Amino acid sequence: SITPLKNTKHFLVSAFMDQRLNGFDIRIIGMFRRDSIQPLHCLFCCAGRLSEATPTTVFVHSDHFGFPIATTDIMCRIPENCDPTHVTLLTQPSAENVTNPTWIPIKNKKTVGKDEEKMNFTVCISSLFGDYNNVLQFAQTLEMYRLLGVNRVVVYNTSCGPELDHLLQDYAQEGFVEIISWPIEKYMNPSHGWLFSRHGGDINYYAQTTKLNECIYRAMENSRYVLLHDIDQIIMPYQHSNLVSLMDTLQQQHPNVGVFRFESHSFSNMRFDPYGKFHLPQWRRVPGVNILEHIYREEPNRKEYHPYKMIIQPRMVEQTSVHEVIKNFGEQYIVPPEVSRIIHICSGGTIPLELLHEDKRLWDFHEKLIPNVDKVLKRVGMMMSKN
Ligand SMILES: *[C@@H]1O[C@H](CO)[C@@H](O)[C@H](O)[C@H]1NC(C)=O
Ligand SMILES: *[C@@H]1O[C@H](CO)[C@@H](O)[C@H](O)[C@H]1NC(C)=O
Ligand SMILES: *[C@@H]1O[C@H](CO)[C@@H](O)[C@H](O)[C@H]1NC(C)=O
Repeated sequence: SITPLKNTKHFLVSAFMDQRLNGFDIRIIGMFRRDSIQPLHCLFCCAGRLSEATPTTVFVHSDHFGFPIATTDIMCRIPENCDPTHVTLLTQPSAENVTNPTWIPIKNKKTVGKDEEKMNFTVCISSLFGDYNNVLQFAQTLEMYRLLGVNRVVVYNTSCGPELDHLLQDYAQEGFVEIISWPIEKYMNPSHGWLFSRHGGDINYYAQTTKLNECIYRAMENSRYVLLHDIDQIIMPYQHSNLVSLMDTLQQQHPNVGVFRFESHSFSNMRFDPYGKFHLPQWRRVPGVNILEHIYREEPNRKEYHPYKMIIQPRMVEQTSVHEVIKNFGEQYIVPPEVSRIIHICSGGTIPLELLHEDKRLWDFHEKLIPNVDKVLKRVGMMMSKN
């Protein structure tokens, strides 16, 4: 998924057909060193022969947070009489003297006659790294997504803990999760933070924005909506029973909107339901947080900057950042928190109990959620007997 581009300091990630902008056919998503941007040319492999090279236009994304390497789009045209399968970028205007170019396949080519049913919802989980091993929260959250109508979860994997690896292999085999391998540490020093001046490194937070953009294009032709948030977050409808009816309603009220923004509300994983209603014995050996035990919601401090996460129509977005889109077609809409908000179960817990709201919305799903979680934990051999 990460390919160094020969004779440059840049990396290619994926290439997509994208004819939404006048004058361009192809969008290559890359990670480019901002101080070394140079003229480049697209070369195509057209059914076994080389094309002539075509000029490119390079768009470095504005949300690079000061890091030397930034998410970058390289746009170009396909020459006449070429039905390309692969593309590469050259530092010179012709293929003369070029040996073994770095080909990458072109995705999202329209296949004639193939009329697959689109998925409704794809979730993009952009970050998995270190020895993260929060198995119980991961399994519960994936099963919540499924109950809410999500069809696929794309996970960009740099590394993870052993039990979580086992769980994800199982989900990938079943097809609900698609794992994209993301060995970025082989190629650069990715930052653990989002701001260069504070955290250092070559690119923000393991190249989070590169992955979010790649995920949108990956889903563009096969999913109506894409959800961009983290694995400790669930976009929860509070007046509808699932995401399908929520989005049908919102889209009818706001037909020109392609970007729906949701407010994130924190539930500290240090505060527990005092009665331990869902402190279940069969999960006691499973590493990680039990989301059903955390029912105290913080009111966001709206005077400070408040992060939103998004549900987007992929065809209406061109470039995204983490909390907002950078370039899009159509309108945006902030969803009122009483209609839907994000349950964000995370560390914290300094706020006095009197200032927290009891919110047991997750419990409304327990009758289906618990057996579904049990089933997958049993498959991977992590369930204890119930007594
Ligand atoms: C290709 O190589 C030949 C011989 O070294 C050289 O004369 C020519 O200028 C090169 N062409 C390009 C486009 O670099
Ligand atoms: C998408 O949602 C519709 C209801 O709006 C449903 O009929 C259809 O089966 C869903 N598609 C998938 C792939 O889940
Ligand atoms: C995630 O990546 C690590 C490091 O390459 C690998 O060991 C692990 O098996 C991967 N897990 C999955 C589920 O792909």
